[in-house]
This record gives sequence, structure tokens and C-alpha cells, in this order.
Amino acid sequence: MKILVIGSGGREHAIVWRLAQDAEPPELFCAPGNAGTAALATNLPIGAEDIPAIVTWAKEHRPDLTVVGPEAPLCAGLADALEAEGLKVFGPSQAAARLEGSKGFSKEVMEAAGVPTARFRVYTDSAQAIAELEDFGFPVVVKADGLAAGKGVVIAKTRAEAEAALHDMLDAGRFGAAGAEVVVEEFLDGEEASVFALCDGKHVELLPAAQDHKRAYDNDEGPNTGGMGAYTPAPIATPEVMRFTREQIVLPVLRELNRRGIPYKGVLFCGLMIGSKGVRVLEFNCRFGDPETEVVVPSIASDFAPVLLACAEGRLKEGMVRLRNEAAVTVVMAAPGYPGSYPKGMPITGIAAAEATGCHVFHAGTALREGEVVAVGGRVLTVTAFGKDLREAVDNAYRGIGEIHFDGAHCRRDIAAKAFRHL
Ligand code: AMP
Ligand code: GLY
Repeated sequence: MKILVIGSGGREHAIVWRLAQDAEPPELFCAPGNAGTAALATNLPIGAEDIPAIVTWAKEHRPDLTVVGPEAPLCAGLADALEAEGLKVFGPSQAAARLEGSKGFSKEVMEAAGVPTARFRVYTDSAQAIAELEDFGFPVVVKADGLAAGKGVVIAKTRAEAEAALHDMLDAGRFGAAGAEVVVEEFLDGEEASVFALCDGKHVELLPAAQDHKRAYDNDEGPNTGGMGAYTPAPIATPEVMRFTREQIVLPVLRELNRRGIPYKGVLFCGLMIGSKGVRVLEFNCRFGDPETEVVVPSIASDFAPVLLACAEGRLKEGMVRLRNEAAVTVVMAAPGYPGSYPKGMPITGIAAAEATGCHVFHAGTALREGEVVAVGGRVLTVTAFGKDLREAVDNAYRGIGEIHFDGAHCRRDIAAKAFRHL
């Protein structure tokens, strides 16, 4: 079997790595990949958003499956373009990817499907939005409708902050077309969890819940990042929460989309808020999360390629996904200054030594320069470890982290600490 993976982050390295562990490993290609995927796959010099070049390559090489990592190409119609050539894709169509690509669409689908989510309204006019702010109380949440690279959500503590965010998006065009419409919604309390639902259009298999750590520094302080670490399983996502997610969130959304003639296949990422009011959906994403993938995907014990292919072909079956019964933790090593500006080109040492301790090192922002692995991104790499429980997995991950060095590297020291409050 021949598989093409689209993307270049830690998520894609983890997907490629897991596919390479299958009993009959597929022949792997990655567009564009990174220094980590290069060891397991043939990296192609094609950008993840270059749909014409991806389609041209795929028409010529006929992969049995294309697995799309990031949201941008899905929202731009990559799955549709490949399927039009008779190729199979793990990832939703452009119409289904709007669950991530348009927050207004996503909320409207949730409402129609009876899925619990924050009370909301959609606006294109700032004066009207401002006039109705009091209906939501404070803090209030203001969201750009479209893709805004994780920067389109403002939690406004005061009326003044909310007005500024609305003017910014609706009047000053801060996010261009992505912010020409906004969702205003009530603020929800609680703890967040990420649940990945594998979908084939009708059937659903949930993977174990994970928690991400968005802030740059320990104790959830500092600026927001793409994610500084993750762990699974998340004790807050009890079996009851998981059953609710499947029965009251994912299945109703698939039914509602099918009613509209939009089958959803691929992974539906449910960003949940679990609090005193129960489980609510904060957002849907049309792809795996990063860095959650680096703990969740390695936790899959069954062969991975057949599962992904079954999703693409509409024949996902209950029990197809077996799991390792272990906890997993991943800790991101970032460049100095991240998430602000950061230097590039620092040589990285100790990756092999970290792997010798039993860790898996997934590359995110790395490149090969004259045979040497160097840092070229903000999130440089992430170190994943298993353990019989979360404590053991944490210790194992930090043992691996201790082996890896590059100038100015920083990581959080408290990944998974919030889980211990529930144990
Ligand atoms: P989103 O992209 O919609 O998930 O929003 C990004 C982040 O903003 C989430 O992961 C939450 O931390 C936070 N957030 C979004 N919506 C809400 C809400 N209604 N209440 C509280 N926090 C929220
Ligand atoms: N880790 C959150 C995300 O991938 O959006």
C-alpha cells in the first residue's frame, strides 16, 4: 500500500511513525514533511497548501490513500480535488471542513443537531453586536468566523475589550474575510479536553481523550502557543463524558450533516469544555490536533493504515481500533522566544540518546543541514513517552527531554500536572 501524508509538523511525523509500525508498513510519502519524516518516508518538495501540485503528484503516483494533516488544505478543497481523480482521502470534503472553517456554520449545525454549546449570535455589523453585548454577560467571547491561525478568539473581560475586538474584526478588517463575520458567545467555565472521533460518514470510533497545554509557561501562564504538551487519557473525560460525546455530540452532528448531503469522513476533533453545566462543545476542528496527536495516535495498538482506509471507504467497524492500555505524555521543546520571534539554525543533539531511553521524538520545526538536524521552527520537537500510568509517563518523557539540547531550548515542566488533581 502507498500512502501520502500532507503536512510538516509533529502531528504528521507521529502519523507517519505510527503507519510505519504497521505489520505490513505502507510505502510512505510526505508533502512536505520534516527532518523526522525523512527517516521513514520520502519527503516531497510540495507545500501542504499547494493543491494543484499535490493533485499532479497523486495522479501520477496513485497513492492508495492520502491522509491530510492540517486544516487549510481541507478547507480549500484538497479532499474534493483528489476524489475527483478517483483517489481516496482521509479527511473531509470542503463542505464538511466548514465545521472548522466557519465558526458560524459550526454553531448553526450544532444548534440544528441539538448539540450543547455556548449560547451565541452571529454578526456582520459591529453596532448591532455592541448593542446586544449585555445579553451574554462578561466575560464574553468574540470569534472571527474563518480560519485565523488560532488568533481569532478574544475572551473579553469587559465591555470595552469586547467593543475593541468587534471593531478590530468587523470594521478594521483585522483578519480580512475571515473576520467579516463574527460569532459572539457566552463564556463557559470548566476544563478543556480534546476528543478525536474517527468518522467514515456514518460510523464513529472515539480515540481516548487528551489535554493540551496552550500557555507558554508553567501553571498556564504566559502567552498562548500552538500547544506546549499533551497527555492521554485525560481523567476528566470519564467514560460517561466519552459516551455523551459519542451519542449526544458526534453522532447527531453526522446525522445533521448527512441530512444536508454532506457526509463527514476523517477525524472530527471535538474541543470540549467540561464544567459545572456538563459537557459543551467549544469548537470542532476537521483534523487531528497538535500536539494531542503525538500522544493519541501512538496509543493505537491496531494497524493504523486499515483504520484510516476504512474511514475513507465508509466501512469503519466497532472494535477496529484497539488501544495500548498505557498513559502517554508529550513535552514540546520550543525555540527561545517562542511564541514570539525566535532564532533558527541551532544544531540539535541527543535525539538518539532520548530515543534510547524509550521515548519517541517527533520533529515539528526541524530541517537537515549537511547531515545535521537543526531547529527551524517555534515548536522544534516533542518528546513522547508511555508509562503504566500518567506519573510514570511524565517521568519517562522528562528523562528523554533531559537528553536533548539546542541553544535556548525551553519546555514546560508541568505537563500533565493538572491530571493529578483528578486522580
Ligand atoms: P476556539 O478556537 O473556538 O476553540 O477557541 C480557542 C480557545 O478559546 C479555546 O480552546 C478556549 O480556551 C477558549 N474559548 C473559546 N470559546 C470559549 C468559551 N465560549 N468560553 C470559554 N473559553 C472559550
Ligand atoms: N492542540 C489544539 C489544536 O490542534 O488546535
